[in-house]
Amino acid sequence: MPALKLPALSRAAGSVRLPGSKSISNRMLLLAALAQGSTEIHNLLDSDDTRVMLTALEKLGVGVTALGDDIWRVEGCGGAFPVKDADLFMGNAGTAIRPLTAALALSGGAYRLSGVARMHERPIGDLVDGLRQIGADVRYTGESGFPPLAIHPANVAVAAPIRLRGDVSSQFLTALLMALPLTGEAAVIEMTTELISRPYVEITLNLMARFGVEVRRDNWQRFTIAGGQRYQSPGQLYVEGDASAASYFLAAGAIGGGPVRVEGVGKDSIQGDVRFADALEEMGATVTWGERHIEVSAPSSGKLKAFDLDLNHIPDAAMTLAVTALFADGPCRLRNIASWRVKETDRISAMATELRKLGATVEEGADYIAVTCPRNGIPGMQSPPAPIFCTDVAIDTYDDHRMAMCFSLAALSGVPVTINDPQCVNKTFPGYFDALAEIAAPVIAIDGPSASGKGTVAERVAATLGYHYLDSGSLYRLVALAAIRANTALDDEVAVAALAGGLPASFEGGRILLAGDDVSDAIRSEEISAGASKVAALPAVRSALLARQRAYRRFPGLVADGRDMASVVFPDAMAKVFLTASAEARAERRYKQLIAKEMPANMHALLQDLQDRDARDAQRSVAPLRQCDDAELVDTTQLDIEAAVATVMAHVRRSQLPSGIR
Ligand code: DC
Repeated sequence: MPALKLPALSRAAGSVRLPGSKSISNRMLLLAALAQGSTEIHNLLDSDDTRVMLTALEKLGVGVTALGDDIWRVEGCGGAFPVKDADLFMGNAGTAIRPLTAALALSGGAYRLSGVARMHERPIGDLVDGLRQIGADVRYTGESGFPPLAIHPANVAVAAPIRLRGDVSSQFLTALLMALPLTGEAAVIEMTTELISRPYVEITLNLMARFGVEVRRDNWQRFTIAGGQRYQSPGQLYVEGDASAASYFLAAGAIGGGPVRVEGVGKDSIQGDVRFADALEEMGATVTWGERHIEVSAPSSGKLKAFDLDLNHIPDAAMTLAVTALFADGPCRLRNIASWRVKETDRISAMATELRKLGATVEEGADYIAVTCPRNGIPGMQSPPAPIFCTDVAIDTYDDHRMAMCFSLAALSGVPVTINDPQCVNKTFPGYFDALAEIAAPVIAIDGPSASGKGTVAERVAATLGYHYLDSGSLYRLVALAAIRANTALDDEVAVAALAGGLPASFEGGRILLAGDDVSDAIRSEEISAGASKVAALPAVRSALLARQRAYRRFPGLVADGRDMASVVFPDAMAKVFLTASAEARAERRYKQLIAKEMPANMHALLQDLQDRDARDAQRSVAPLRQCDDAELVDTTQLDIEAAVATVMAHVRRSQLPSGIR
């Protein structure tokens, strides 16, 4: 996939529905596979790392069935994988290889586990040492201490406490904890070092409990599993949103004004990474917590404060803070993050290299990174800052999804940023850049009455800038046509809204299709114009179309025309224009269009129709047609199309200046 050139961004606001948590998804899949009974898992993350786990379980003879886009049924094998000999490819998924190694080592079969080249550089020795203490036969087939591994059948017996290191990765403890109940025996694990990334172990304990296995924890030092416990399926489970993925959007809200809301994690989350929001709060951002959402806005001062934090408890989300540090008012220090060095890449080194490309001064140590942003100390700077990061920077991503997601935030400094190999986000978040675009891609909103020329102007502005184009009126027209074709009364709000919610419409190369039928001309008839104005007055219809309209917001940007683009659909649009013309001038334009298409036209009737529609659009209770306070008025009565486009473009160029120097 080619590099992704992110445009200069100036604002971020809106809401994002998070994909399911990776950590929870892969743990639930394995526990469901090991349990007795079948488990239905909802909101399972669909990404490279969960595919690795699903494929491995299938190869091991576990029944896994997709019941919907993000719903899977797993037939538990009651602790004994049906397939006793298999080669398993683990990609670069740490959440798959570590727990599977432990479970397979206690399963009495012969298995070979390997991964991508980087996986073979990621340590697993502490886990293997732990497993060997109870008689498991796990051998290195490459370099000692690293995958690939060969597991042979062995007689496992748990007697003395298992002594385990916890200072390289908490996943070794997670893996042992999840596997030990397979022996049916009582087991004790004693940590021989400090345990890092503790919140991830908490996720493990929480999920094991949901499958009926209790672990006694003494101070993060000793873990005791009583004998005779077996995993039992709880039936149905729901994966909460990914809290690490949430960090990018929450940071975008703190940097780009906000409010940005993430939906899918909230105050009752079992993921430690939600504590990332506390770090943003320390930087001065405003954070609000709901049951299932978190919302962040920039500090009212506009400035994010510098920080010096121990981030051992949120190692993944901490990467997001390293890039957020670029926007802080002083030098920032991220401490106690040694585990970064053994993740998808050496994240301390990769982060330092790429931050320097943007002009930051970076100091790195074995377990810390200190970041001083390039514009530090420039007085009076607002957030988002003026474009004084280095421009034309291409960020390398090291096959590390988090590098790509983190550095996308640098574009909020008001300079374009290129992300090399952006597809690496597929590891945990295939739709990441689309989700970011929905809160941050520049939008030019062009509203105005019928026949003001806004459609033509908007299309040309979009073509000039290379932006996407949304003709929102056509959606209301399509709803009216669909309702008429379905014999639905245009004032039956519930029925028309249902049609709008599932509208089978698509836009292909200038043609508008409804259920595959080309209706480009049909939706322009006077009957449909009047019908569209009627259905557009129904609140339920408007809300049914809202998400659909917002999904058009993509990189590099969007020009959207309609009636409420600036007021309701894209209230944070970068540039807002209210395009109008006298009713007489608009009626005359419509008359000429109809005659050109050899359609019947009557000047007097057209004028009357226009005035009726203007009145209906302006007087309705929801999203009435009106000029927003922050919209530029462009009256095209005396302007031809070229002049109207030039006037709008001039306004857009003025608005594109980053807010810090506006
Ligand atoms: O822009 P247009 O003439 O194609 O719009 C058709 C109808 O849809 C018009 O009566 C107003 C309504 N509309 C709306 O209410 N909100 C929008 N964003 C776009 C159109």
